[in-house]
Amino acid sequence: MHMVRCAWRRLCALALLALAGCAPNAPQDTLVPDGPIARQIDGLFKPVFWVAAGVFFLVEGILVVALVRFRESRRRGAGEPVQMHGNTRLEIGWTLAPALLLAIVAVPTVAAIVTLSREPAASDNPLKVTVTGKQWWWDYKYEELDVRTANELHIPVGRPVLLKLESEDVIHSYWVPKLAGKQDVVPGQTNYLTIKADKPGRYMGQCAEFCALSHANMRLLVIAQSEEDFDEWVDRQSAPGTAPTDAAAKAVFEDAQKCAKCHAVKGTDVLSTTGPDLTHFASRKTFGGATYENTRENLIRWLRDPPAMKPGSKMPRYDLTEDEIEALVSYLESLE
Ligand code: CUA
Repeated sequence: MHMVRCAWRRLCALALLALAGCAPNAPQDTLVPDGPIARQIDGLFKPVFWVAAGVFFLVEGILVVALVRFRESRRRGAGEPVQMHGNTRLEIGWTLAPALLLAIVAVPTVAAIVTLSREPAASDNPLKVTVTGKQWWWDYKYEELDVRTANELHIPVGRPVLLKLESEDVIHSYWVPKLAGKQDVVPGQTNYLTIKADKPGRYMGQCAEFCALSHANMRLLVIAQSEEDFDEWVDRQSAPGTAPTDAAAKAVFEDAQKCAKCHAVKGTDVLSTTGPDLTHFASRKTFGGATYENTRENLIRWLRDPPAMKPGSKMPRYDLTEDEIEALVSYLESLE
């Protein structure tokens, strides 16, 4: 009786664990790709998964049959079953079968690796963006366009986007599961990744390589838009920003030891590229490595104590007065 209860408990725990993997709305579900590149990877994963499942049930099935059958024969006192050690035909069989299976799986795999590593053709008019991974956010610089932004990447639907991945500190990994596979972002090396979206939408992603304290807060957002909406976004992003008019905001913003040390607002004298570009900060949905919603409340909390929201944050706590914080937040909200 005790054994049965124990087995039930284990089964329930296992079922709960399996259920924990279910979600009605999984924004980073690799099994539901939303672009041709992610779909190609998915098209490899699924057949290989079923082949592996077949092998699993075959091997486990034989094991279970052997366990049940020979347990009975031992119980009846029939002694040890016939040993088959040294059966050459069987051994050749179970060496060749997996080798053959792996060789078959390798054909589409290698073909996909070759296709995916190819840069998009110039005739497909790829959009080129340099992505720089930094602890713990993403810097985007649109080549051929006067646009620089952070964490949220806007892309036009149906057009390949070639990402040139670079890192300024440690190894990161760029991953938007619904649009493409992972690609490491390595200091001193340039890696490339092509992404492409089928339809407009917001695609969540995140850094997929442990990069110290706030690795979990190094998220990102890809916003796919129709070609018209994207062009409109580019127009707005290309425009310069404005300097603060409020005296308190201006003093902190232009302080070489505070905002001006790391940030930039195009069109002003504050132009450091160390931290996220703030020229059109208010147009972003999120901030802090796409971790926090861009709301007044969150911004106030952030300016009071950045490392409290993002452990290890390169932006320190400046002990600003509440008036300074209010003024700065109002300024940030004006940067549309
Ligand atoms: Cu960057 Cu993990």
